[in-house]
Amino acid sequence: MSLFPNPLHYSESNCFYASWRCPSNIAIVKYWGKFGLQLPRNPSLSLTLDKAHTDTTVKVMPRQMTDSSVTVIVDGLKNENFKPKIMAFLKHIEAYLPWTASYDYEIHTHNTFPHGAGIASSASAFGALSLCLLSVEEQMLDNAYAEDEFLKKASFLARIGSGSASRSVYPIAAAWGKLEQLNASDEYAIPCGDRLHKIFHTFHDDILIVSKNEKSVSSTAGHQLMEGNPFASLRYEQAEQRMHDLIHCLALGDIEAFGTLCEEEALSLHALMMLSKPSYLLMEPNSIAIIQKIRNFRAETKLPVYFTLDAGPNIHLLYPDNIASKVREWVDHDLVHFCKDQFYLKDKVGQGPQIIPQI
Ligand code: PMV
Repeated sequence: MSLFPNPLHYSESNCFYASWRCPSNIAIVKYWGKFGLQLPRNPSLSLTLDKAHTDTTVKVMPRQMTDSSVTVIVDGLKNENFKPKIMAFLKHIEAYLPWTASYDYEIHTHNTFPHGAGIASSASAFGALSLCLLSVEEQMLDNAYAEDEFLKKASFLARIGSGSASRSVYPIAAAWGKLEQLNASDEYAIPCGDRLHKIFHTFHDDILIVSKNEKSVSSTAGHQLMEGNPFASLRYEQAEQRMHDLIHCLALGDIEAFGTLCEEEALSLHALMMLSKPSYLLMEPNSIAIIQKIRNFRAETKLPVYFTLDAGPNIHLLYPDNIASKVREWVDHDLVHFCKDQFYLKDKVGQGPQIIPQI
């Protein structure tokens, strides 16, 4: 692929290697509810992150036994926990990358954000793995994809591992899920960084870690509960309308409209969880305390600081670069006490995935 010169990829004795870094992303309009093979009930749009990312090297070797062998190594240590999900993913993608059925895999991976920090890593992990597999395919078939086709197929594959991962392969921002206005698809995400006013290209996302605990209800279970949620169809209409509104304010650089929508979306997501049958709650007392602090700070200072949440208790603090020093001062003074171990990750909008040296 011409965009990435001198890829540090090589093959030896019928083995192929590829290494990619892929960022995580934060959804502004949230994907919540799915059907079929990880297809979304509603369109979503996210900002691509920078610091929160996964580095992955994949070694692909000709299969030794009838059954596939997959070894997963996280930070240099063999890890059995991720194996079932990766094996299921490899099985599913055989239909789209038929060569994968004839190989064994050694997957080395490292997250730049601390383990168990409560930051979801499936988006960056499946993004990185999909990019590596496509790079291997290019070497194996000695056939380079055009850049946009490469990323589209990476997004398609990543989606099968984790829906939100489909959006992680693009710089700045990406949209996933059918939406006429964007000519977008349920099967893969599309880049939309060039639709954003430049103020959003340098936006900050400080991730305030309220809890590092495993979620009591997984995202997979949460998506499934949408099937019986009495508000589901209203929600899907709302998400579509908010996509239109979001695209509009992102293009205009209207931070206030963006921030208002962002907070409404986060609260809608958590309201849907509370209204599920059975009901559940992922916010914690400190999540609420931080939300109140943000609202008070905004009212007092008139500074454009907004929040969003993923499916968990942690707060993403979103603000433009020109107020970064004032906001950081306030976070360090007023908000870190609500964070687990006083930890928060200073992240911002990022430039998307890149090829890296073997890890
Ligand atoms: O990709 P999943 O299955 O982990 O679902 C992610 C859902 C949210 O993070 C809550 C929203 C989103 O669009 O990323």
